Amino acid sequence: MVRIARLNPLRRRKKTEIKLLPAPKEQRNRRHLLGIEGMNAPGINRILDLAETYIERNRAQDKKHAILRGRTLINLFFEDSTRTRTSFELAGKRLGMDVINMSVGNSAVKKGETLIDTAMTLNAMHPDFIAVRHPESGAVQLLSEKVNCSVINAGDGWHEHPTQALLDALTIRRHKKRIDGLKVVICGDILHSRVARSNIFLLKTLGADVTIVAPPTLMPACPESLGAKVSYHLREAIVDADIVMMLRLQRERMEGSYIPSIREYFHFWGLDREKLALAADDALVMHPGPINRGVEIDSTLADDIHRSIILKQVEMGVAVRQAVLEVLAMDNP
Ligand code: ASP
Ligand code: CP
Repeated sequence: MVRIARLNPLRRRKKTEIKLLPAPKEQRNRRHLLGIEGMNAPGINRILDLAETYIERNRAQDKKHAILRGRTLINLFFEDSTRTRTSFELAGKRLGMDVINMSVGNSAVKKGETLIDTAMTLNAMHPDFIAVRHPESGAVQLLSEKVNCSVINAGDGWHEHPTQALLDALTIRRHKKRIDGLKVVICGDILHSRVARSNIFLLKTLGADVTIVAPPTLMPACPESLGAKVSYHLREAIVDADIVMMLRLQRERMEGSYIPSIREYFHFWGLDREKLALAADDALVMHPGPINRGVEIDSTLADDIHRSIILKQVEMGVAVRQAVLEVLAMDNP
């Protein structure tokens, strides 16, 4: 009975307001959001369509829409974050949830408690969602097998960062009115980037023409297996691009030297106005953040509101995370 009462606000939403498609059959029992790989276009569009309904609400003075009142979200971040953690917190609070930010640095992890014991301990307090960021690929999936709440991958190692790809797609869709057929270039440290992997899966699923660009040392082995075109030359790959997505050098994941110097890296793989001039006239610049000015992107270009939609990506992050929480709540009553 209690469960039904908690779900009622979701069911009461007007159809015209949410334009929500039913979950695709194979995703109907989906309990977690662990990655984009394996999701299909209807499943992705369902989240994007719902996120659209939150954008204007988030710009209004009263941002609360407490349809998940009574539910609990725990943010469990084993790696630093500004955007993802804050937006999950805002998303949860705007939906009326209780949100707990676990500070791993001040937790029993410091006394040797393992990831799994930490997860099972938190699970015993009956959260409804745990958003997890962890430096090891696969750690979030492992954790999801030990708890009985919904787990959301907030970035695991080099593997996936699904909500980042969803917010990137929402940003592109709003600015270009489509994703299908767009030429998207993703350039930078592809090897260590979970953002690149999630974006490749998502953008390819929605019909974009995706090219990844990196120096050979920062390209994974067998890059073609990711499903995107592969280039080692930004000046060639960027020609006629509609979207240029730049990535940070993930120094925290590097052992040893992967590039000769920052100066040389910027010269060949950094984005400046001269290289952007080779792209489509209305090409837009994206970056998941945090940006390293003068390393992968020219500072004035990053701030140019006519070309850069980096801060729009941040804005879309809250709406997408609200949509993800709502969809998971709907699919896991
Ligand atoms: N913030 C993104 C991530 O956590 C990208 C980055 O850190 O460069 O994957
Ligand atoms: N884009 C992204 O995940 O940013 P944070 O590392 O600040 O969360």
